[in-house]
Amino acid sequence: MSLLSTTQRWGAVARLLHWIMAAGIIVNGAWGLWMVGIAPSMKKINVFALHKSIGLTLLALALLRLAWRLVDKHPEVEPAPRWQLLAARLTHVGLYGLILAIPLSGWWFNSASGYPLQWFKHFKVPAMGGRDSDLAHIALVAHQYLFWLLVAALVLHIGAALKHHFVDRDNTLTRMLPLARRKPSSY
Ligand code: HEM
Ligand code: HEM
Repeated sequence: MSLLSTTQRWGAVARLLHWIMAAGIIVNGAWGLWMVGIAPSMKKINVFALHKSIGLTLLALALLRLAWRLVDKHPEVEPAPRWQLLAARLTHVGLYGLILAIPLSGWWFNSASGYPLQWFKHFKVPAMGGRDSDLAHIALVAHQYLFWLLVAALVLHIGAALKHHFVDRDNTLTRMLPLARRKPSSY
């Protein structure tokens, strides 16, 4: 299994980053929705701290993934109408933007609220700026809305992946899956 992508399939690094991040973002998003309902307590502080640490880790992985995307190849796209190729490109660019903007807006909200920030209790993470309740409100609204925008983009993204697999019966999904074999009929 090649670490680098080829013209035919995604490499191990691209696939590993895609699936670790997909799982991490979905879990951290669900965790975020759940944690805001917890009554003020020590548990709430710890649960929030974990959400922030996982979110910062996902931000670092998103930067790593983008850097890797710049040096790695992109497999050739499967034949499709022009509008679908354009829609896929726009969705992918949007997804990259959202996986950066969501954790950044969380960090911004945390900073503007004056809350402390640590990475898994190992080291302190600096604030993005000073305390400001108006900015904190804007950042919180951004954090919430960007998350729901991501959910909408994922409906399109997952729907497209399933359509490629079950309707077009091409290799778009299999070449991104960790261990699946390519469909021999496609090339
Ligand atoms: C939070 C969840 C997810 C995020 C943020 C995400 C993000 C992305 C991004 C940005 C790309 C573009 C890669 C590139 O061109 O550099 C991509 C590719 C892909 N994703 Fe996801 N994804 C997620 C979940 C999923 C799920 C659940 C599936 C499957 C059902 C999936 C299937 C695919 C496939 C098949 C490709 C390759 C498309 C191609 O070869 O053109 N993704 N994903
Ligand atoms: C990919 C990463 C992340 C995802 C998917 C995510 C998602 C979410 C979601 C869905 C909520 C619930 C919003 C609501 O309904 O009120 C939330 C809340 C929150 N997030 Fe994140 N988040 C991420 C990263 C971060 C980071 C990096 C930080 C801070 C460093 C952070 C700080 C917070 C805080 C403080 C809240 C609670 C807001 C409140 O008190 O209402 N998040 N997050």
